[in-house]
Amino acid sequence: MPTLTIRAYAKLNLYLEVLGRRSDGFHRLETVFQSIALHDDIDLVHDRSGPPGIVMSCDDATIPVDASNLAWRAAAAFIAGREPSAGRLSMTLRKNIPHGAGLGGGSSDAAAVLRALDQVFPGWHDAASLQRMAATLGSDVPFFLVGGTALGEERGEVLTALPDIPPTAVTVLMPPARLPTPAVFAALTDSERGPRPGHAAGWWPQQIISGTWSSLLFNRLADPATRLCPAVGALLSHLRQCGLPYLMSGSGAACFVLGHCDPPPGVTAWHTSTITRTRASMSA
Ligand code: C5P
Repeated sequence: MPTLTIRAYAKLNLYLEVLGRRSDGFHRLETVFQSIALHDDIDLVHDRSGPPGIVMSCDDATIPVDASNLAWRAAAAFIAGREPSAGRLSMTLRKNIPHGAGLGGGSSDAAAVLRALDQVFPGWHDAASLQRMAATLGSDVPFFLVGGTALGEERGEVLTALPDIPPTAVTVLMPPARLPTPAVFAALTDSERGPRPGHAAGWWPQQIISGTWSSLLFNRLADPATRLCPAVGALLSHLRQCGLPYLMSGSGAACFVLGHCDPPPGVTAWHTSTITRTRASMSA
């Protein structure tokens, strides 16, 4: 049986502003997503005549390999109602992207499974229904179906492609701490739940074209994350000394620097780079 290997790329949020809280409890966002080369790998084996079901394994024993894993849920959503025709799906997840990091590892794995199954079962779902399926799995899963550079609005699932950022060297740094996304949003103060005067996301297309986008880096969640997790504050203080543009990604705890930077003690670093929509969308 052939194995399909697919890459699940991590993302950074180059910009993240909170515009308010919605009646469903989610926050309205204006965020700029950027794919990076750091990635997980997923091997998918489809046994058409095997006993129907989804089986999963992972090289990281701390990651669940059942229905509590978003990648497993993505496979279940894709085959829902057609399980007997889907046969046996075996997925092996090789993790490189840390979790609790704000790098979208679990969401990217889920989107990669949807893309892989779209190749295995062409025509089962059209692009619009895949996007809807992705949005039910998580707010940033739809971004990972397309990748590259994109503006995310509402929960982050309403996407507009932005011009590709030219390949840029990035150091991703992970402090010895993990942050659960709901806790970080819940730690926003009332005044942090609204945009700064003159917030700048609308300028991104022009700033990317003119090459001055790095001056727009901003993350509204950095202050609540720092209050919850002093290790994030310590890492951001260290990065301030480096003299390069830096930011926390998503809801943390990972931070990034545009350029090369050595990590302080206890912090893990990956030297990687930004990638475009085309590379993010393709299979390994
Ligand atoms: O959509 P996702 O499952 O990734 O969201 C995880 C949690 O993060 C939500 O349950 C919510 O607490 C918080 N969140 C939010 N506003 C968003 C995205 C996530 O409040 N736009």
